[in-house]
Amino acid sequence: MDKLLIRGGARLDGEVRISGSKNAVLPILAATLLADGPMCVGNVPHLHDVTTMMELLGRMGVSLTVGERLAIETDTKDVHCLRAAYELVKTMRASILVLGPLLARFGEAEVALPGGCAIGSRPVNLHVDGLRAMGAHIVVENGYIRAKARRLRGTRLVLDVATVTGTENLLMAATLAEGRTIIENAAREPEVIDLANCLQAMGARIEGAGTDEIVVHGVERLQGCEYEVMPDRIETGTYLVAGAITKGRVKVKRTRADIVDSILHKLRAANAEVKVGEDWIELDMHGERPRAVDAQTAPYPAFPTDMQAQFTALNAVAEGVGTITETVFENRFMHVQELQRMGAEIHVSGNTAVIKGVEHLTGAPVMATDLRASASLILAGLVAKGETLVEKIYHIDRGYECIEEKLSLLGARIRRVVGGKR
Ligand code: UD1
Repeated sequence: MDKLLIRGGARLDGEVRISGSKNAVLPILAATLLADGPMCVGNVPHLHDVTTMMELLGRMGVSLTVGERLAIETDTKDVHCLRAAYELVKTMRASILVLGPLLARFGEAEVALPGGCAIGSRPVNLHVDGLRAMGAHIVVENGYIRAKARRLRGTRLVLDVATVTGTENLLMAATLAEGRTIIENAAREPEVIDLANCLQAMGARIEGAGTDEIVVHGVERLQGCEYEVMPDRIETGTYLVAGAITKGRVKVKRTRADIVDSILHKLRAANAEVKVGEDWIELDMHGERPRAVDAQTAPYPAFPTDMQAQFTALNAVAEGVGTITETVFENRFMHVQELQRMGAEIHVSGNTAVIKGVEHLTGAPVMATDLRASASLILAGLVAKGETLVEKIYHIDRGYECIEEKLSLLGARIRRVVGGKR
């Protein structure tokens, strides 16, 4: 299995281009199922999760062509299989995003339940409840969600939790439903807006995306369109933290400052000089060690849970004591034990981590446990004394395009170790 070997201590200095957003491209690719006609999705990041989504759509009969300039062309005219098999769903939870589009367009769907989760409590109960309220007949049996509906009916949905993929699934389903659907307590994440913009380009009638009340007027048919995916705000934040943690200077290009406000706010609090332009952000530490920051995760526009692990790593080498509180997911401190193995002083109590910055971390073999946890271990490795070997990096390949190449271009000493070789 591949690993990443990092020799810490290099101060990052340079420019990096941000890729298309993982969390926007996945729902947008699922939305191509709604199109009666060819579509072309551009600025697609080359990520393992994108490959999984393509495989999922391909097995249904969607024709897919990888074109020039990071584009994927799709056509649904030969769709014959309305199923998302467990084998793929277990590797990527976001596979659930095909449920709404399949049901709305083809009247039927069979989607495996994402790994290890009991329906009724969490984590896809709100997707299922919402579709049921729109008139779908849904049974959960043999590990699959089996759904049928002649035509979904618009209704008023109030989400108990502002779930991101739940909002997206229901939004996609509502575009072809009969009448008006109102989604209250909708997620306000920029990726929901990007999906809504794409659906509108396909002919959907949507108001309020980006607010907590989305109104959709169902239409009979959606056509294909050309659409460019937004930049990845978590990748943007991760490279800026890479600059901050190494006391360096990093300019991220082809991104947007307006979608990372809460992250920039924390970086400024960490003593970084941050400048923003139309499609770039530049961070400069002027060679100084960062200051520890306090942060609490919450749905957008607050500080994102997907940046929590990276700021935990930043605090681990910062001056002072910082407190990080996780309110979105119950068990998202798996990276802490690995950071402790590198010498970090972190005390976790409930959903709060108190981190006392140390002068130096020391390199160690560490294990990635999920996507953002892997990112935090790589960041820690960039400043640790000696070598850090990050194992199980298939997590990182799910969500960061060419991470070792991009970090190398910024001056990091990092390389991929293929298989067992060093
Ligand atoms: C999305 C993002 C993920 C991010 C997360 C929170 C994608 C592909 N993934 O995940 O990167 O970390 O938002 O910003 O966009 N919940 C329920 N019932 C449901 C659905 C969710 O109780 O039916 C709960 C979850 O357990 C969690 C909270 O709602 O505590 C938020 O989860 P949700 O917004 O659904 O996360 P995802 O959409 O899976």
